[in-house]
Amino acid sequence: MNLRVFDRLESEVRSYIRSFPTMFSQARGSTLTDAEGRSYVDFFAGAGTLNYGHNNPVLKSRLIEYLHSDGVVHGLDMATVAKKEFLETFEHLILRPRNLYYKIQFAGPTGTNAVEAALKLARQVKGRTSVISFTNGFHGVTGGSLAATGNSKFRDAAGVPLGNTAFMPYDGYLGAEADTTEYLERVIADKSSGVDIPAAVIVETVQGEGGVNVARFRWLQALEKLCRRHDILIIVDDIQVGCGRTGTFFSFEHAGISPDIVTLSKSISGYGLPMSLVLMKPEHDIWSPGAHSGTFRGNNLAFVTATQALVHYWSTGEFEESVFRKATIMDAWLNHIARAYPEAGFSVRGRGMIQGLATAEAGLAGRITARAFREGLVIETSGSEDQVIKLLPALTIEDQTLRKGLEILERSVAETLGVNPAHADKIRFIGGAR
Ligand SMILES: Cc1ncc(COP(=O)(O)O)c(C=O)c1O
Repeated sequence: MNLRVFDRLESEVRSYIRSFPTMFSQARGSTLTDAEGRSYVDFFAGAGTLNYGHNNPVLKSRLIEYLHSDGVVHGLDMATVAKKEFLETFEHLILRPRNLYYKIQFAGPTGTNAVEAALKLARQVKGRTSVISFTNGFHGVTGGSLAATGNSKFRDAAGVPLGNTAFMPYDGYLGAEADTTEYLERVIADKSSGVDIPAAVIVETVQGEGGVNVARFRWLQALEKLCRRHDILIIVDDIQVGCGRTGTFFSFEHAGISPDIVTLSKSISGYGLPMSLVLMKPEHDIWSPGAHSGTFRGNNLAFVTATQALVHYWSTGEFEESVFRKATIMDAWLNHIARAYPEAGFSVRGRGMIQGLATAEAGLAGRITARAFREGLVIETSGSEDQVIKLLPALTIEDQTLRKGLEILERSVAETLGVNPAHADKIRFIGGAR
């Protein structure tokens, strides 16, 4: 594939084209096709923006209808019919059934815009400057979000000191035995610890970019209690693992916690269209009008597809059940790989349909995903050393395509290790296969 124009004209900052060196032309469901007609199973879903798959026909037809009717497209925060329908649907199908009461802020179109707004608001609410973030956390690459992001690859690009954030060990950072909230409690309670009382903690329930690190529910519950004890807000960044990725709409539902602020983006529009939002408990909505402004703060096309996605997938519990079922297929297959290729020292982690295959040897994950791409699978690595193969298929992926992708992954593992593929067919029917 000739990609010379990208080399010649696009900045060196380009990134995913390096992992997937081809030119994609079409996409449908969980299949991407390149300009030479080669097709790929997609286990990346636009970095988690396509929980309902590429060009989902239900969303597409509603979008085309809206465009044909000359519905408002620009993104200022005026009142539009599309926004009204989204707000009412989100309240009716997502918030009320979960007994959640939040005001909704539309930040700029990307995830980091929501994080910036959330951090700014928390600082205003508490009148404190610092926040606490966690090791391996990823919250975006604009100034405020970057200060709360651990990875030095991104931090080093800032060019200015990144401050007002203290990093604390995430769950599992000191091994499975340690409860790192005890350390956090100690430094917050101790006036001589050198750690300022923060306005908020910002946390991912599963760290997507950080290596598919999963926080235990009891750790999240302990974190919430600690925040309440010390009058600290808790912000859940659900940008990557919200919108059904872990099975439930919000990733924190089974933990039973009640975050003060939640950020959502990526799959909220359901169609890959940029959209982000901040949910805040009504008592924290202390913004003065226009204090946090911007030109693109209500993508009407995204509202249309977001509403349609909520109505189609979240009106009943069926979709959730299908995510949990497919998650068992993924989990079973990954555990089979871990057992069948002990020489690689794999371990499996994840929740719902974000799963990771962690490697012990530097560079191995990248070699496997590069081979997988050549074999027809789009899949990425994550983690501080890119040591984890991250599986992020569309939640709507058909069982058959999911299995095809897992087969390619296993074959790529075997070929990279230079061994014969184990008996993947044996586990083909594990996990409630249809
Ligand atoms: C948890 C989390 N927060 C924030 C962001 C930033 O979102 P965006 O890249 O849209 O700015 C990401 C992106 O991967 C993310 O995973």
